[in-house]
Amino acid sequence: MTKTPSVEPSAVAPPNALTLRFAADLVAWQKQHGRSSLPWQNTRDPYRVWLSEIMLQQTQVSTVLDYYDRFLQRFPDVLTLAAAELDEVLGFWSGLGYYSRARNLHRCAQLVVSEHGGVFPTSALTLQTLPGIGRSTAAAVASFCFSERVAILDGNVKRVLTRVLAYSADLAQAPAERRLWDLATELLPPAEHMPAYTQGVMDLGASVCATRQPQCLICPVKNLCASHREGRPESYPVKTRKLKRSSHALWLLWAQRTDGAVWLERRPTRGIWGGLYCLPVFDNEDALSQALPAAARAKLLPKTPFVHVLTHKDLHLKPFVSQLTPRQTLAAELTAPERGGAWFGPSAWQVLGLPAPVRKLLESETESGT
Ligand code: ADE
Repeated sequence: MTKTPSVEPSAVAPPNALTLRFAADLVAWQKQHGRSSLPWQNTRDPYRVWLSEIMLQQTQVSTVLDYYDRFLQRFPDVLTLAAAELDEVLGFWSGLGYYSRARNLHRCAQLVVSEHGGVFPTSALTLQTLPGIGRSTAAAVASFCFSERVAILDGNVKRVLTRVLAYSADLAQAPAERRLWDLATELLPPAEHMPAYTQGVMDLGASVCATRQPQCLICPVKNLCASHREGRPESYPVKTRKLKRSSHALWLLWAQRTDGAVWLERRPTRGIWGGLYCLPVFDNEDALSQALPAAARAKLLPKTPFVHVLTHKDLHLKPFVSQLTPRQTLAAELTAPERGGAWFGPSAWQVLGLPAPVRKLLESETESGT
């Protein structure tokens, strides 16, 4: 008996009235009210768009604006980035946080060169095979640069779509999130409108459709919005798993030579500040003090502790300064050779990839011009 070919149920339904109007209204609104002069707009160069999307993951537009142009001046294209040393890339990323983004960026550039002849793949599916490029980032690049009909679904877009659709499934559950991807795909316009649509849904989520007190009165899609009809847009999205904040104390040893050089060590790739140079980090004052030659311990000076706020964690940083004599300097190197550190003068550490709070700390006592 021959097997009847089964028809796969299409994940994507044919366009209905909501689909057509939502995209069309959003595109019209984007062209009139959306953002249009950000430095990564008005280009279809996938290198520039990809760089902006990576920087914009977990970082606000206003912060990225400070970094984007500087980064492009030094690394104007994927070949230049691929050929650079990782340390220099990390230096240009210093202060943006989430340094795995910079390491993936560098690896991705190298793969674009070695596996794709220096040309970015044009489909979201292939872009997603590259390091640091997830489904939403791949879709952003493919839709902005190549008008591919693929949906993005970052936090802002989830908020817009769950509200428009009054989508009440719990996004902490993978099937609920998968279904939302399908619905996001159903809402897409024809290819020629994809860049404006993608920017529009981002812009709406970043402005009008705010987490708290959304400005429904000026929303271009309020008449289509099911949560607006219900009178409770702020009830969406539904996500039960709450991120727990934690707090953690770290002791930082700021050992300084008489010529002003500081001792820095490279952090392990995994964990906080992975791969960056940093002042030696300890779990308590005792361990910090033990890392110094005995003669230097008595002169250890505490500096004002401060808190550095990360997304899920408050870091309580407790710096201690040790001004070492030339003889103590050598002993300090011998005390902890396994930690793999080195002395860096001001002109050397200023161009290294350092965690932002450590850079701020070191800069707080560096005279201008040194
Ligand atoms: N966030 C993520 N991508 C963005 C973009 N292209 N413009 C503005 N904000 C964004």
